[in-house]
Amino acid sequence: MVNRKFRLCIIVFSRELLKNCMKRNEGLVLITGASEGIGRATAALFAAQGFDLLLLARGKERLQELCASLASEFHVACTPLPADVADAEEAMRRIRAALAGRRLAVAVINAGIGLYGPYVDTDWTDIVSVLRTNFEGALASARAVLPTLREQGHGSLVLVSSTIGKRAIPYNAAYCATKQGMLGFADALRIELKPFGIHVGVVCPARTDTPFFDRMTYAVPQTARRSVPTNPPELVAKAILRCVRLRRREVVVSIPGKLFAFVGYHFPRLSDFLLYYNVPRPDKP
Ligand SMILES: NC(=O)c1ccc[n+]([C@@H]2O[C@H](COP(=O)([O-])OP(=O)(O)OC[C@H]3O[C@@H](n4cnc5c(N)ncnc54)[C@H](OP(=O)(O)O)[C@@H]3O)[C@@H](O)[C@H]2O)c1
Repeated sequence: MVNRKFRLCIIVFSRELLKNCMKRNEGLVLITGASEGIGRATAALFAAQGFDLLLLARGKERLQELCASLASEFHVACTPLPADVADAEEAMRRIRAALAGRRLAVAVINAGIGLYGPYVDTDWTDIVSVLRTNFEGALASARAVLPTLREQGHGSLVLVSSTIGKRAIPYNAAYCATKQGMLGFADALRIELKPFGIHVGVVCPARTDTPFFDRMTYAVPQTARRSVPTNPPELVAKAILRCVRLRRREVVVSIPGKLFAFVGYHFPRLSDFLLYYNVPRPDKP
């Protein structure tokens, strides 16, 4: 009996050892906004694929805890990179310092915050905060990693936009502007970077079940909400991985997300009509 248990232990141990030895090292992935939601799920999925991780967010402790748990679970190297992308100069400096002398396989530019409310009733400071984090922060993060990718002559840059970057919705005007801006930014970069072998992709998640909506700024309370299909963050993480592996220019996540973007692009007036009558109006402030 003891002998059988011992043999079983040896088999399990050898299988684990073999699995870890056979795991290819895929290189380093930088993920911004990695401590929660989509970024966190993406970090776990890339770690499971054998990527080493460089994880950026503002909260240092949460990043450290996440890194420790992913490193021990997936046997990869994980470096926390505490930084605020809304402070573009400082974020660029930190990213460059963290990449010095290292090779980078993939950068996922994902950090973002939300802002809800009628545009004219929204504080300018809240609007600037969304522009700085989602747009300036994304451009700065890309600016910081691109010299490394260009020097290597390969790698992937993936920007996390949104289905409401494909077709904007009311009461999210500033947010939608940042997400639509990312699409234009990516279109230009894709062609600029083609001669250097760098892939530029955009992933557009539909509504995803993350702490995003609890953390976003509400210029006025959102008293009424329509129920919309919601995806798990792991589905978006898979879309990001697919975007990298297949060097896709754009991935819109989920069938409802694709349908929403399709109607918005091909039937803009119908889309206006549907949004006008379906998105609940907020109460007056
Ligand atoms: N959830 C959705 O329904 C949805 C749909 C479409 C697109 N998206 C987009 O997907 C991305 C991720 O969203 P999520 O749902 O995963 O949000 P989330 O759960 O709120 O996570 C946001 C992440 O970004 C980090 N972050 C926020 N501001 C930052 C800053 N100034 N500098 C550095 N890191 C910052 C947060 O960590 P710290 O607070 O510690 O910095 C956190 O790790 C965003 O760009 C969002 O616009 C989300």
